Amino acid sequence: MEQTQDYDDNLVTLLEALWGDGYLSPGGNDETAMVLQQMHLGGARVLDLGCGTGGSACFIAQEYDPAEVVGVDVEAGVVAKATANAADAGVADRVTFLAIEPGPLPFPDGRFDVVFSKDAIVHIPDKHALARELFRVLAPGGVFAASDWMAGSDEPPSPALRHYEALEGLGFGLASPDVYFAALRAAGFQQISYRDRTPWLCDKTHHELDELDGRLRPALEASVGREFLDHEVDVWRALRDVLDTAELGAGHWRAVRP
Ligand SMILES: C[S@@+](CC[C@H](N)C(=O)[O-])C[C@H]1O[C@@H](n2cnc3c(N)ncnc32)[C@H](O)[C@@H]1O
Repeated sequence: MEQTQDYDDNLVTLLEALWGDGYLSPGGNDETAMVLQQMHLGGARVLDLGCGTGGSACFIAQEYDPAEVVGVDVEAGVVAKATANAADAGVADRVTFLAIEPGPLPFPDGRFDVVFSKDAIVHIPDKHALARELFRVLAPGGVFAASDWMAGSDEPPSPALRHYEALEGLGFGLASPDVYFAALRAAGFQQISYRDRTPWLCDKTHHELDELDGRLRPALEASVGREFLDHEVDVWRALRDVLDTAELGAGHWRAVRP
């Protein structure tokens, strides 16, 4: 489970300008709520895998009355920001963040009732090893609920997708829904379901490209610099192109550990 990307200060500034404070992925609290739809988290011990700057973890603590939320991420910089955000949000008594190494999760068996994750598993190439870890750290009856960016199929990537991945430079480990289903099933999960969010992400990305290259440009140029912003506009164009063909997509996962 290696990862190679770097969510540095400039990228965090740009992503939070687009997606809201505490979010390095699209959709904010609404999308977090949709991932958790019809789940009751009262008193639950929740893990947020790949927590970024902590938007989802803080929202869960504020809205769902869990016993605790533990956010983990491989980037110490985002973990520090998440910790500050939890203090600002007044939830530091129930939310903790931890910088971890890629690989096996540093928790005992059955430590959590819910594993939540938002758009982070895409960075973890070995879905089978990850699914085994998710199963292990969940208590019996525990639920895995996540959103993620997905490959549209298992075909070799087109030049457009290779271009996007090279520009993005975030060490993507894209896989198709079939791979996720197989990994979750092999790990022992049951009641596995997937909801496609590709049309939503596609529309949103078109709008974001207009924002990045329009309304947000003056403020972002001042904070992250013109060269970095121009590069990110190129990333967004490449992203739009692979979403338009559905070679890249997104969706929500739910699975239960029996
Ligand atoms: C697109 S961001 C999403 C962050 C957050 N979940 C959100 O929605 O704002 C992906 C996050 O996954 C983290 N990540 C990448 N590889 C990881 C791994 N092996 N274990 C845990 N987190 C990882 C990255 O550092 C980054 O913060």
